Amino acid sequence: MEITVVGTGYVGLVTGVCFADIGYNVTCFDIDENKISTLSEGKCPIYEPGLEEMLQKNLAEGRLRFSADSKSGCSFADYIFIAVGTPENEDGSANLEYLEAAVADIAANLSRDAVLVIKSTVPVGTNEMIQKKLHASIPEGITVKVVSNPEFLREGSGILDTFHADRIVIGADDREAGRAVATLYEPFGRPVLLTDIRSAELIKYASNAFLATKISFINEVANLCEHTGANIEDVARGMGMDERIGSQFLKAGIGYGGSCFPKDTKALEKLTEYYQYDFKILRSVIEVNSRQKQQLFHKAKEMFGSLKGKRVSVLGLAFKPHTDDIREAPALELIAQLLEEQADISVYDPAALNNVRAVYGSRLYYADHLDAAVKGADVVFIMTEWPEITQYDLKNFKLFMREPVVFDGRNCYELDKAKHEGICYVSVGRMAVSAGWYLKKLEH
Ligand SMILES: NC(=O)c1ccc[n+]([C@@H]2O[C@H](COP(=O)([O-])OP(=O)(O)OC[C@H]3O[C@@H](n4cnc5c(N)ncnc54)[C@H](O)[C@@H]3O)[C@@H](O)[C@H]2O)c1
Repeated sequence: MEITVVGTGYVGLVTGVCFADIGYNVTCFDIDENKISTLSEGKCPIYEPGLEEMLQKNLAEGRLRFSADSKSGCSFADYIFIAVGTPENEDGSANLEYLEAAVADIAANLSRDAVLVIKSTVPVGTNEMIQKKLHASIPEGITVKVVSNPEFLREGSGILDTFHADRIVIGADDREAGRAVATLYEPFGRPVLLTDIRSAELIKYASNAFLATKISFINEVANLCEHTGANIEDVARGMGMDERIGSQFLKAGIGYGGSCFPKDTKALEKLTEYYQYDFKILRSVIEVNSRQKQQLFHKAKEMFGSLKGKRVSVLGLAFKPHTDDIREAPALELIAQLLEEQADISVYDPAALNNVRAVYGSRLYYADHLDAAVKGADVVFIMTEWPEITQYDLKNFKLFMREPVVFDGRNCYELDKAKHEGICYVSVGRMAVSAGWYLKKLEH
C-alpha cells in the first residue's frame, strides 16, 4: 500500500508521519525544496511536540521518505492525500490556487488508478469541481476517485489528535472509494462518519464556526462581566459544569487567531453570500472577535494616553501555546498597533521568535528569556498562555519592571495573587487590580 501526502505543513506532515508510524509506506511531497531537504535530514521545520522524534524513527525504519519531485511522489501511489494550504483571499473567500496547482501536478504524473483524498479545508462544491477537472485531464484508462476527508487536528497536539481523533469524517459520492479510505484509517480505531462529499466539506466549516462561536460568546460574557462586576472565570466554570454546555472553549481572552478559525469563518461567510443566505450568528462571531483583539490595546491607551516611547514587553507571540504558528495571532495585531504608537517593544515566545523576526526584523527587541523581556518595561502584555508564562513568578514583574503594570489577555494569574504582590493587573472579564492606585499615581 503506497500513500503519498502532498503538502508537508502542519497537517500534511503530521498525517504523513502518523500514517508511516502505523505501518504504511508514505511519501511526503512538497514544492518547497528547502523544506524537503530539511525533512530528509530528519529535522522538523515546524514546532510540533513529538513530531521530530516520530519522523526520525520512521525515516530510519524505511517507511517514510520525502520528495520535491512530483513524478516520483505521485505516480505510483494508491492513495494521494492533498494537504496544501487554502489561505484567505482578500475578499475572505478560500484561495484554492495551491490546491488546483497540486491537482494539476498530480494529474500530469499519474500512471495508475488512485484515490485522491482532499484533506485541505475547502468550500462546499470544491471536491466535485476537482473530480470534474481530473476527468478532463488524466490519461485515458486511468480512474481517479475523489474523497473528502477534512482534518480536525489542533496544532500543538497534532499527533495526539491524529491517534485519538473524536471522529474521522469521510465524504464520498462513490461509496466504494469512501469505504477504502475508511479501511485505511482502521488501525487508528477511531469512529468514522461516512457521508456524502458536500456534507463532509460543510462539517469542517460548521465545526470551526461553532467553536469560534463559543469563543466569541464567552468573550461577550466577559465584557459584560466587566460592566457588572462579575468574574468571568467563575461564570465560565459555572456554565461549563452543565454537560449540555461543556467546559471546553469557554476561556475568555483576547480573541481567536491561528491559521484556521479566522479564515474558515470568513470563507464560510463568503459561501453563505454565494448562496444568498444571511447567516447572522456567523457575522457577529467574526465582528466580536475583531473587536476583542483590540481590547487590551484600548485599555492601555485609556490608562497611559500615549504609549509613545514607553518600553513595552509582549509575552507570547504564537496564536496559542505549544506551536510556533503566528498566522493571525492576536500578538501580531497588538505589535502593529504598538509600532504605530512608536513604543519601544521587546518580545518573547518559547517557540515563535524566529517567525516574528522574519516579519518585523530589527524593529523589535527579541528577548531569549522571560526576565530579559520584562526587565525595564513600563508595560507588559500577555498574549499567549504558554505554561512558562502562566507559571512565571508574579514577584518578577515588581522586581524587573519600572512600575509593575500588566495587561493579561489570557487571564493567567489569580486576582488575589496580583493584588497581594501589588501589581497593577488588568485582565479580561475580571475587575482590574490596583488600577486605581496606579491612575492616582499618574495624576501626581
Ligand atoms: N494548521 C491546522 O491546524 C489545520 C487543522 C485542520 C485543517 N487545516 C487545513 O489543512 C490545510 C493545510 O494547512 P496547514 O496549516 O498544514 O498548511 P501549511 O501552510 O502549514 O502547509 C502547506 C504546505 O503545502 C505546500 N504546498 C503548497 N502548494 C503545493 C503544491 N502545489 N504541491 C505540493 N505542496 C504544496 C507548502 O509548501 C506547505 O509546505 C489547510 O486547508 C488548512 O485550512 C489546518
